[in-house]
Amino acid sequence: MDFSIRAANVEDCKDIARMIVELSEYEKVADQVKVTQRDLEQDGFSKNPFFHGIVAEVPEQHKTKDGKGIGKALMSKVAQLGLAAGCNQLNFTVLDWNKQSLDFYFSQGSVDVTASMGYHCMRCEGEALDSAPS
Ligand SMILES: CC(C)(COP(=O)(O)OP(=O)(O)OC[C@H]1O[C@@H](n2cnc3c(N)ncnc32)[C@H](O)[C@@H]1OP(=O)(O)O)[C@@H](O)C(=O)NCCC(=O)NCCS
Repeated sequence: MDFSIRAANVEDCKDIARMIVELSEYEKVADQVKVTQRDLEQDGFSKNPFFHGIVAEVPEQHKTKDGKGIGKALMSKVAQLGLAAGCNQLNFTVLDWNKQSLDFYFSQGSVDVTASMGYHCMRCEGEALDSAPS
C-alpha cells in the first residue's frame, strides 16, 4: 500500500469532519456528534490551536478498502511526535465491543488499563459542566 503521513492542514478539516461522523456511525453514537468543519478549522488552525492532527494520504490510483499498514503508521507517528514533545504515554479510548480495534491496539503493545488498573473513562458535560463551581 502506497501512502504518506503528513501534518493536517486547514484544508483537511472537511475530510476530518466527515471521518468523525463515519467513526461515530461505526461506534453507534452519531447522535452525539456536535463538532463541525468550521469548529475544526477554528480550533485547530488559529493562533493558539487546541489540537494538532496528522493524516494519511493515499494516491487515488492506490485506494482500496483494506488500507493495510495505515493504522500502524498513524499510531507510530503519534508516538514519535509525543515522545519528541516529552510525553511518556499515549492514552486513548476504545469501545468494549470493538474487538477488531482492541486486538489491533494489543498487537501494537498497548495495555487495557480498565482491566489491569480499574481506570474508567469519565465525562462531565451539559448541565453538570455548566454548573461546575468557578
Ligand atoms: C483499528 C484500525 C485503526 C487498524 O488500522 P489498520 O490500518 O487496519 O491496521 P494495520 O493494517 O496498520 O495493521 C498493522 C498491524 O496490526 C495488526 N492488526 C491489525 N488489525 C488487527 C487485529 N484486529 N488483530 C490483531 N492484529 C491486528 C496487523 O496484523 C499488522 O501487524 P504486522 O505489522 O505485524 O503485520 C482500523 O481497522 C480501523 O480504522 N477500524 C475501524 C475504526 C475504528 O474502530 N477505529 C478505532 C476506534 S478506537
